[in-house]
Amino acid sequence: MLNVEKIREDFPILKRKINNRQLIFLDSASTSQKPNQVIESIKNYYEMHNANPHRSIYQLCDEATQLYEDARKKVAKFINAKPEEIVFVRNTNEAMNLIMHSFALPKLHNPSEIIVSIMEHHANIVPWQLVRKNNGTKLNFIDLNEDGTLNLEQLNNSINRNTKIVSLTHVSNVLGTVNPVKEISKIVHENGSLFIVDGAQSVPHMTIDVHDIGCDFLAFSGHKMLAPMNIGVLYGRKEVLEEMEPFMVGGDMIKEVTTEGVIWNDIPWKFEAGTPNVEGAVGLSAAIDYLEKIGMENVREHEKELTQYALEKLSEVEDVQIYGPTNPEVKGGVVAFNVKGVHSHDVAYILNDFGIAVRSGHHCAMPLMKRLGIQSCARASFYIYNTKEEIDALIEGLEKVKMVFKL
Ligand SMILES: Cc1ncc(COP(=O)(O)O)c(C=O)c1O
Repeated sequence: MLNVEKIREDFPILKRKINNRQLIFLDSASTSQKPNQVIESIKNYYEMHNANPHRSIYQLCDEATQLYEDARKKVAKFINAKPEEIVFVRNTNEAMNLIMHSFALPKLHNPSEIIVSIMEHHANIVPWQLVRKNNGTKLNFIDLNEDGTLNLEQLNNSINRNTKIVSLTHVSNVLGTVNPVKEISKIVHENGSLFIVDGAQSVPHMTIDVHDIGCDFLAFSGHKMLAPMNIGVLYGRKEVLEEMEPFMVGGDMIKEVTTEGVIWNDIPWKFEAGTPNVEGAVGLSAAIDYLEKIGMENVREHEKELTQYALEKLSEVEDVQIYGPTNPEVKGGVVAFNVKGVHSHDVAYILNDFGIAVRSGHHCAMPLMKRLGIQSCARASFYIYNTKEEIDALIEGLEKVKMVFKL
């Protein structure tokens, strides 16, 4: 059980009023709020240790290098990887782009095939469309079952000897579906393909062990897990990373440059060209400390409880349609819905009058919207600082939405 009241005290922004109401932040799947511990870690970095890491031998430089590399070790431990398997990037989008440029574009050609699912975020669709366009590879989309889970039978039937990459989200940012990535990993590897997991919506919310899952790549964003924006992670299995050429080149990613050529640095540095985001890494490290103190099992349990409560309450509201699984065991802390006849932006706009922040729109998942037969939807998403009372306020807000639209 989380002590939510105590946790909330760590998040200064939660004291804010919006339209004279207490802020109710139900959009952590977009980006989470940040606790004092993370904010302070960044302030302390700039007040005490700031320098450009890896570049000199004076003390501040040494301290900045230490902080940056310690953050890498912390991330590695958090997902049970080796530090050299952790590449710092800006976000999940950049991680996917790195795989596209350094693995897929140089290595995949017609008749190679890539498999994704229809529930993917654009970050896990558009890079593979570019590979299709450039290299003539095939891109197959796995469909959903009626309950919003992934159609594993179709995955089993689609995978074939030309399939080189299977890239799936662990948790859907719209449906909340938790995909059985460990089970899928076995299928993918039996076929000799690479398995990429989009962990943007799972790493912040549950215990993740890359060895247990057995994935080759895992991508996630710090800003969705209490850390600042512009620090993200690409985990890559050592043997795979070593085989790959860097796609961003220049400073700090080399061992030697002569007028004739270049020798790349070792992994992970060969993928990190230029001055890195040390403040981001420091903030991510503090965020992991914060989450580990709470315990990731407790984070997941808390969100399951909130999700179950939200599903129950929302299903009692007439004219509300909910998308995705209704079993919290296979659903993350994400509940997408529409109010019949009301555009999701109108829903979000009216809820904002009551200080409630929910996301509306296509959620960077336009193929999924099309599959669901909708243009957009609203989404409430939960994290460690959310309460059942906030869900009650959301339900009350939705009644107001219905009143405005005379439903
Ligand atoms: C499942 C999923 N993948 C990828 C992303 C992209 O994350 P970022 O914008 O941090 O790159 C998101 C963001 O919402 C997401 O939910």
